[in-house]
Amino acid sequence: MRKKIIAGNWKMNKTIEEAVELANGLKREVGGCTEVDVVLCPPFTALKSVSDIVSESQIAVGSQNMSSEDEGAYTGEICHTMLKELFVRYVILGHSERREYYKETDEWVNKKVIKALEKNLRPILCVGETLEDRESGNTEKVVEVQVREGLKGVSADAYTELVIAYEPVWAIGTGKVASAEQAQEVHAFIRGIVKDMVGAEAADAVRIQYGGSMKPGNAAELLSQPDIDGGLIGGAALDVASFAGIINAAK
Ligand code: PGA
Repeated sequence: MRKKIIAGNWKMNKTIEEAVELANGLKREVGGCTEVDVVLCPPFTALKSVSDIVSESQIAVGSQNMSSEDEGAYTGEICHTMLKELFVRYVILGHSERREYYKETDEWVNKKVIKALEKNLRPILCVGETLEDRESGNTEKVVEVQVREGLKGVSADAYTELVIAYEPVWAIGTGKVASAEQAQEVHAFIRGIVKDMVGAEAADAVRIQYGGSMKPGNAAELLSQPDIDGGLIGGAALDVASFAGIINAAK
C-alpha cells in the first residue's frame, strides 16, 4: 500500500507574516496527521519560519526549486546545502511554470533530480502535457519523454523516495480539472513506463500525485483512483480550510 502524499505548492505567494499564519493554522488542523504525508512548499523567504513552526509536527517542508550545482557563481539560485539547513526534505523539480517561463529542459531537470537524490532530498518531479499536446493526441508521447528523460540514471531503489507529479498544464490554475478517468489513465501509463525502466517493484512503490485545480470538492474522487497517490496543490493550498479539506479527503 502506497501512503498518500499531499503537497502544497505556494508558488510566489505569501509574505513571511502570511506564511506563518497559514503554517500555524495547518499545524493546528493537520499537524498530527500520520495517515497521509503532508508537505508544505512555501517561497524561499518563508522556509525558515515555516520549518520552525512545523518542526514538532508530522508536516514536512519542501522547496519549489533547487539548483543542480553545489555552490558558486549562479546568481539567484539556491543549492541543496542551503535548503537542508532549513530542514527541507522535498524539492519540487521541473514544474511546468519553470519549464515554460525559465526554459528548464528535461536534461536540466534530470541533473537536479540526480543531485537531490545524491543529497538525500526527495524530488517531486513534475510532468504533464499542454492543451495543444492533448488536443493533437500527443499526451502519452510528451509525458513519456518527460518521465524517461527526467528520471534517467535513477536507480530502482530511489523510487521509494522520489515522487512523480502528473500535472496537465491545461488544468493548472484554470479551474479545469482532469476527470478522474483522464487522470487515472495517465497515472497508469506513467507507472507502466517506470516498470519498463526499472522493474515492477519500483513501479509499484513510486507515488504519483495528481496536480491541477485539485480542491476539497474533487479530491476524494481523484484520490480514489488506483494509481493516484496524492496531490500537488496550488491555489487550494493557500487556505487552511481548503488544504485541510484535501488532506481529509486523502485519509
Ligand atoms: P493549481 O496548481 O492547484 O492552482 O492548479 C497546481 C500546481 O501548479 O502545482
